[in-house]
Amino acid sequence: MARRRQLYEGKAKILFEGPEPGTLVQYFKDDATAGNGAKKGIITGKGVLNNRISEHLMLRLHDIGIPTHFIRRLNMREQLIREVEIIPLEVVVRNVAAGSLAKRLGIPEGTRLPRTIIEYYYKNDSLNDPMVSEEHITAFGWACTNDLDDMVTLTMRVNDFLSGLFVGIGITLVDFKLEFGRLWEGEDMRIVLADEISPDNCRLWDAKTSEKLDKDRFRRDLGRVEEAYQEVAWRLGILPEA
Ligand code: C5P
Repeated sequence: MARRRQLYEGKAKILFEGPEPGTLVQYFKDDATAGNGAKKGIITGKGVLNNRISEHLMLRLHDIGIPTHFIRRLNMREQLIREVEIIPLEVVVRNVAAGSLAKRLGIPEGTRLPRTIIEYYYKNDSLNDPMVSEEHITAFGWACTNDLDDMVTLTMRVNDFLSGLFVGIGITLVDFKLEFGRLWEGEDMRIVLADEISPDNCRLWDAKTSEKLDKDRFRRDLGRVEEAYQEVAWRLGILPEA
């Protein structure tokens, strides 16, 4: 097969030109970074697992009517996706205090939040992805009020569904990050879920022991990183053996 043209290389993924117009190939690397690239490493097999986990979760979300950029998985490390205009925001959803929220507000990690909290971060590496408000987002034109309404509605549906799905396999969905894009079909535009959903961008804790089954094992040097990703895939039923 002819080599595909590389369009973009991110910290954990590479985007290539797709086989048909309006499509891209998303390649999952084993590279891991934390602190916006301050810490770098390799998690062997992570790309393969995240490709499978993200495929599984995007398909389940599609089943309940959430529009996503995912078309199909191509092989161990690649999936075919629709080309979308990425909205330069990270939408973080929090059910339980952890990470930067716990630190910023002095709330002990593991405290169940009084209600789900949504935060927005402006995607900009050179600024370290600063937290922004709806005011900034609409004033600077990163998204309009309608786009934001659609993103919040989709985000809450994703959270409800994934929280339940993970409860069913003994995992607490503590928090996670979503990205959205605009999908143009002629004159029509829809907001769709983009990027990936995997232990790289979710905090997943064992419901009984609170053991971390996500990228915090890498961020905090807890060891057994690959095993944690495998455990998530296994509990989701997408690995043949334990
Ligand atoms: O670090 P923080 O507590 O703000 O992260 C909240 C959630 O968003 C975590 O699940 C983390 O994995 C995810 N996140 C991400 N990409 C970032 C920042 C956070 O996937 N750049």
